[in-house]
Amino acid sequence: MAVVDVKADMQSDQPVLDVRDLKVTFQTPRGHVHAVNGVSFHVEKGEALGILGESGSGKSVSVGAIMGLLESPPARIEGQVNYRDTELISAPASVTRSIHGDRIAMIYQDAITSLNPSLTIGNQIGELFKVHRPNMGRREIQAKSIELLEAVGIQPARERVNSYPHEFSGGMNQRIMIALGIALSPEILIADEPTTALDVTVQAQIMRLLGDLRGQIDMALILITHDIGLVAENTDRLMVMYGGGPVETGPTDAIIERPAHPYTIGLLNSIPHDDMKGKKLIAISGSPPKLNEMPKGCVFAPRCAMAKDMCRKEIPVMTRIAPDHSSACHFAQEVVDG
Ligand SMILES: Nc1ncnc2c1ncn2[C@@H]1O[C@H](COP(=O)(O)OP(=O)(O)O)[C@@H](O)[C@H]1O
Ligand SMILES: [Mg+2]
Repeated sequence: MAVVDVKADMQSDQPVLDVRDLKVTFQTPRGHVHAVNGVSFHVEKGEALGILGESGSGKSVSVGAIMGLLESPPARIEGQVNYRDTELISAPASVTRSIHGDRIAMIYQDAITSLNPSLTIGNQIGELFKVHRPNMGRREIQAKSIELLEAVGIQPARERVNSYPHEFSGGMNQRIMIALGIALSPEILIADEPTTALDVTVQAQIMRLLGDLRGQIDMALILITHDIGLVAENTDRLMVMYGGGPVETGPTDAIIERPAHPYTIGLLNSIPHDDMKGKKLIAISGSPPKLNEMPKGCVFAPRCAMAKDMCRKEIPVMTRIAPDHSSACHFAQEVVDG
């Protein structure tokens, strides 16, 4: 027993997920689309990591590669995705099967299209157990399904377990999706824009639910969103993405208080503050890069108000501005100092 405890302690010191220099290129008739260009991040046990960026910045493709969801070809994946001691990109399906959807689970924006319309909620949860926990008996599966629905606030669970997805509202279906996501008590739950399709009140309920469950089963959360308010309230650390790569990483509070990349400042300026009522929002001018013709230097330079000659020539690398806070800007320190 003591030996097991020591091992558990040792494991908690290393990240549960460690992504290194992940690159995803799609071969298309119009050339190579560099969707993800060197993404690195790690997730510690039980923590909440936010991945923030506007549409098309490579968030979903990154997690698609992590979850083994990309077809290859047309996708070409490079880099490493380490789940504990297993590297998932090179591992055979026989190994990843017990990790994807089990130790690392995922929920999506659009619950209703991800749920099977012709299966009751109970049967959908049951399928998951049959595939991943073949030793579980029918009664145990039934009891566990009801317990899960209760955990996500679907009442009365004993009756609702026999309902079909179309009998629930959008918010309720999102709760069912969360029940499926946490059914096998994953170590990591990846939530890709989990509340984008929901109104603000339901959004807050869902985020509270995710936070509670995270505490109960000591699960790490990767929250993917374009909504800076959502990551501000619900994550410990943050990776800001632009044009397929990270531009800033660090503790969420530190990034919001002392942003070290002009793109992050642009995102922060684009959220409405009370004192800005009636004033026009400051949007970041210009449009995101075309991923089949990446600029020579910094990807953000064409839209950056601070860009200098160097920015158009040299690709900036991630530079540390505080122990756990880095920015991929040639002038990160000047940006922080304002
Ligand atoms: N199968 C594909 N073939 C070609 N390009 C793709 C494919 N899937 C995604 N992309 C492109 O990759 C880029 C990143 O997409 P995505 O990761 O979905 O962005 P988001 O940050 O909005 O989740 C986009 O430009 C998208 O068009
Ligand atoms: Mg996406």
